Amino acid sequence: MSEFSAVTEATAPGKIILFGEHAVVYGRPAIAAPISQLRAKATITPSSSNNCIIIAPDLNRHDFLQDLPDADALARAARLVLKAAQLGPPPDVTIHVKSQIPIASGMGSGAAITAAIIRALAQYLDRPDLQTNEMVSALTYEVEKIHHGTPSGIDNTVVAYEQPIYFVRQSPQNQIDPFKVAVPLRFVVADTGVRSSTKVAVGDVRRQYNQQPARFAHIFDECGRIAKIARQAIETGDTQQVGKLMTENHAWLQQMTVSSPELDNLVGAALQAGALGAKLSGAGRGGNMIALVEDDAGETAVCAALQRAGATAILATILA
Ligand code: PMV
Repeated sequence: MSEFSAVTEATAPGKIILFGEHAVVYGRPAIAAPISQLRAKATITPSSSNNCIIIAPDLNRHDFLQDLPDADALARAARLVLKAAQLGPPPDVTIHVKSQIPIASGMGSGAAITAAIIRALAQYLDRPDLQTNEMVSALTYEVEKIHHGTPSGIDNTVVAYEQPIYFVRQSPQNQIDPFKVAVPLRFVVADTGVRSSTKVAVGDVRRQYNQQPARFAHIFDECGRIAKIARQAIETGDTQQVGKLMTENHAWLQQMTVSSPELDNLVGAALQAGALGAKLSGAGRGGNMIALVEDDAGETAVCAALQRAGATAILATILA
């Protein structure tokens, strides 16, 4: 019987990137926000099996921790906490993972699952020092490296802090500014239904940057400039400006070749239905787009248009 006996659980939210994806990998500012209504949850239960078991029905997973390679994200998350806690052999527990966040669609499902496992395990081991936002973010970052080699750090940050974040990747320490939204922003998030790999999209942008450094540096600069003004617009409640900047950001993401016909189709449909702005969100090539709407009527019109345009899932969310 383990000395840690209570059942513990922890959750972490999904996220959207409002401004600056991809350019953020190259040190330009970006803005991300949590989607608190979509969550990943990890539950730790003491087990009598003399093993640490990881169960994730959504991912078709039921494994002994000891059998998993370190490149496995779920195993890596658990091992990082055990290592940080300086625990010898893993405790005899079942780690049960469930998520409402769609996989490979730019909504941070991997980071949220990791953060939930880290928080739940740290809580189970009674280690408050491993449950701070900074620590959860830092450990989640280590796991994110499995998904693609050069994560900017924005996903783990927003998922761990669960606040709108203005983020700049830099050495020796990233700039992380949680900030206030002056006037609630209403977003519609719509899924193309196309699954896309962040690693592939980030790798393609890297290749193009290497081939055309000046052109891509300019594109990244423009995305960073937009993110900077967008922060001011969000902090002063200039919703019209936020929308305009989103659509502008989408055009630069098209230049990076990370949009797709499906994303452009949904962005176009949302704008035509009266959205204040629209863009892809996350790594692109598939996954989700976001549209900013003014009010109830705007939300209804944009949701209907996105449905007609073929969105496979639609979610309305308010960032306050
Ligand atoms: O994993 P996604 O789809 O949310 O994309 C992450 C955002 C990128 O800027 C494309 C990559 C990164 O590490 O910031």
